[in-house]
Amino acid sequence: MANVVVVGAQWGDEGKGKIVDWLSERADVIARFQGGHNAGHTLVIDGKVYKLHALPSGVVRGGKLSVIGNGVVLDPWHLIKEIETIRAQGVEITPENLMIAENTPLILPLHGELDRAREEAASAGTKIGTTGRGIGPCYEDKVGRRAIRVADLADKATLEARVDRALQHHNPLRKGLGIEEVDRAGLIDLLAEIAKEILPYAAPVWKVLNEKRKAGKRILFEGAQGSLLDIDFGTYPYVTSSNVIAGQAATGVGIGPGSIDYVLGIVKAYTTRVGEGPFPTELLDDDGERLGTRGHEFGTTTGRKRRCGWFDAALVRQTCAISGINGISLTKLDVLDGFETLKICVAYDLDGQRLDYLPTAADEQARCTPIYEEMPGWQESTEGARSWADLPANAIKYVKRVEELIECPVALLSTSPERDDTILVTDPFAD
Ligand code: GDP
Ligand code: IMO
Ligand code: MG
Repeated sequence: MANVVVVGAQWGDEGKGKIVDWLSERADVIARFQGGHNAGHTLVIDGKVYKLHALPSGVVRGGKLSVIGNGVVLDPWHLIKEIETIRAQGVEITPENLMIAENTPLILPLHGELDRAREEAASAGTKIGTTGRGIGPCYEDKVGRRAIRVADLADKATLEARVDRALQHHNPLRKGLGIEEVDRAGLIDLLAEIAKEILPYAAPVWKVLNEKRKAGKRILFEGAQGSLLDIDFGTYPYVTSSNVIAGQAATGVGIGPGSIDYVLGIVKAYTTRVGEGPFPTELLDDDGERLGTRGHEFGTTTGRKRRCGWFDAALVRQTCAISGINGISLTKLDVLDGFETLKICVAYDLDGQRLDYLPTAADEQARCTPIYEEMPGWQESTEGARSWADLPANAIKYVKRVEELIECPVALLSTSPERDDTILVTDPFAD
């Protein structure tokens, strides 16, 4: 297949970064199509750890083109710092191997300030638990037609007009929240300074990608977050502010939906979530603690402890359908080593009725209790396994049951954070 989309099929942190890095060997271009530096993707290559937020996870491999598409919201100051950090780790990043779409909206300091002020002002039960990076406010400005985009940095008069339009909206809003007005001249100076560093990477990404596609190059679309954080299909309002599902890959870079040949869903062998919101299989007991400790479940972006729970097959079946997932990469199987018994949620009980999907209404979601199936665990270690033959029989049974329940085959299996501790079943790029 020429072009593959990778999406998270749960609440994020499924191990997308590791798998995108692994798959990028087979790709020519790696493109981010939504989200921003709320993402945190950890790659481990020969023991060396790389933490990426705004940069595509393919950047670590040499000889690939990395692309930040228009569906992303970009904090230019963060990006330049991240580039410096990753460069200091020996990775080459130049305008030859990194392109930013000219129509990408910019996250400004005022977006982060608004995001954090709203979260602080929210009463218990209404907080979203955002990453505080200004993602939501920037997407609001995009659809409100008052965003400043990468291309606007090139012309002083346009930039000033855009700043005025944005401040017309933001200053009254800030007043209401008790934040001081934005210093117009200061913001324009800041933008003029950062423009020099960002503009060399700016490009008509839609055009470049369409040319690559016509030349038979392989494009790997890297999703951030997870389908249950999707603005439309996630557990609203406890979601992020973008579409994160596979359909977004096309609009997020400017390529036709027919150019997507394969959708790979990244699925953790159990469930985690950071931030607020419903989580039917959450474990608040020793099993939950054990998953968190063994899985090192702390956020890459905010350091927050991730909530942990059993695998929810009903939810993943749902997200596989919504993104048209052709195959999954099951990650962190090794974290389940040593459990006596494992539970999988197969459906929900809602007021005495069996439901095979999570309903949309918040009050119904809150009343859904998981219906579990139990499976025997395994005591052997699967950590670092690189072939099926290395897996204990009960681990294979668990994987097979997951496939049946989510109605989707396993294409890849991951057994440690290391790049090469990965078992290939079906190559998403194979014709
Ligand atoms: P992403 O946001 O989806 O890219 O995932 P994160 O990087 O935020 O979180 C996944 C974490 O699990 C990272 O620390 C990875 O290094 C780690 N990881 C990925 N795959 C595996 C695996 O198969 N086993 C274990 N134990 N850790 C893994
Ligand atoms: P990766 O790409 C996990 C969550 C936040 C919060 C909600 C809204 O690493 O999987 P936002 O700052 O986006 O407005 O926060 O979304 N969230 C993530 N959770 N992984 C992520 O990214 C996330 N990006 C945002 O915790 O609940
Ligand atoms: Mg993450």
